[in-house]
Amino acid sequence: MDKIRIRGGKALHGTLPISGAKNAALPLMAASLLTDQTLTLVNLPHLADITTLANLLSQHGVAMHMNGHASNGGHTGRVVELTAKEIISTTAPYDLVRKMRASVLVLGPLLARCGQAKVSLPGGCAIGTRPVDLHIQGLEQLGAEIELQEGYMVARAPKGLTGTRILFPKVSVGATENLLMAATLAKGETILANAAREPEVSDLAHCLVAMGARIEGIGTDTLRVQGVPSLHAATHEVIADRIETGTYAMAAAITGGDIELLGGRMEDLTAMVAVLRKAGASIKPTENGFRVSRTDAELKGVDVMTEPFPGFPTDLQAQMMSLMCAANGAAMITETIFENRFMHVPELTRMGADITVHGASALVRGVPRLTGAPVMATDLRASVSLVLAGLFADGETVLNRVYHLDRGYEHLEAKLAGCGADVERIKGEE
Ligand code: EPZ
Repeated sequence: MDKIRIRGGKALHGTLPISGAKNAALPLMAASLLTDQTLTLVNLPHLADITTLANLLSQHGVAMHMNGHASNGGHTGRVVELTAKEIISTTAPYDLVRKMRASVLVLGPLLARCGQAKVSLPGGCAIGTRPVDLHIQGLEQLGAEIELQEGYMVARAPKGLTGTRILFPKVSVGATENLLMAATLAKGETILANAAREPEVSDLAHCLVAMGARIEGIGTDTLRVQGVPSLHAATHEVIADRIETGTYAMAAAITGGDIELLGGRMEDLTAMVAVLRKAGASIKPTENGFRVSRTDAELKGVDVMTEPFPGFPTDLQAQMMSLMCAANGAAMITETIFENRFMHVPELTRMGADITVHGASALVRGVPRLTGAPVMATDLRASVSLVLAGLFADGETVLNRVYHLDRGYEHLEAKLAGCGADVERIKGEE
């Protein structure tokens, strides 16, 4: 297996292109199941998770045609045409679903289009139990009958789905996306209340509108959908990845560098921008994105609590913790979305960090330096937090289990090296 070797201590300078968002691209690809016409997605990132979903979709009958390729280090992304002319299977098998939880996003579209679907329950996950009860309850409220059989959700809607008001008891990105897709083809009006407002949900909604769906309230916590009999072809550009953007913003801040994030959208990161400014970074919009620098200011400790959008994202919590390890002062970091998302703590501690975890909060006392070490992590964001720590640390850090990074960061080494980081991939045996 590949490893990544980092020799830390270099301030990063330069421009860094941001790729299309993984977490927007996945539901957008699933939306191709809703129509027999072609959905063209522009700016699709080249990532392992995208390939995993592509494999699942192709066994449902989606034909995929790749037009473009990543250029400029991924900034322009790829163009992919997805055509689900005929659904040849409504079953999403365990072997594919277990590789990636987002596979569950095929449930709503398959049920809405075919009146039936059999989707494996995704099973456990490193960051928490992550149930799918909200997806199931919401679809049942639209009239589906869902039974759990031998590890599968077996869903039927012989008379089609019918719109109603669904109040989510908890904000869920995936359940909002699944229900939104299903509602586009349901009879009558569906109201999704307490819906997730994440930019990826809005990106999906805009794409569905381009496909002929009738959706109001995009960007708010109440989505109103008037069902239509069918959707049609559309072309949609995937938004820039706000989590990748935030990760590299923190890379600039932790190394005392200056990076322009090309394509980065400050409006999707207001909570993080406020936190980084408080911590001592300067953040300014530019013509093509924004610029993050901390060339002479001291890095200060800032408390952070993760929350649904527009709050501070859980997907940036691990990276923020690495940043706070390097601060002058202490920071309390509280995780409210997932119950087990501190797996990076023991690894950061091995690099010399001073962190004490109390339940859902971690008290981080900044240290003058971290030292490089061999490290590994069990999830994507935890892995990249160790990359950030490695960029700051004295000496050499070798990150194992790089496949986690490959799930969500396109050309990570090339992008960092382009800004002067001493980082390389060591190819391993399979
Ligand atoms: C999405 O996951 C993202 N994944 C995650 O990104 C992200 O961490 C998460 O949203 C929160 O922002 C994709 O978009 C593909 P949720 P999702 O449903 O949709 C609970 C990354 O690193 N819940 O919003 O699965 C759940 O357990 C990843 O890129 C239920 O209780 O997250 C959690 O505590 C990891 N029942 C909370 O809601 C349900 O039926 C929010 O989860 C569904 C969720």
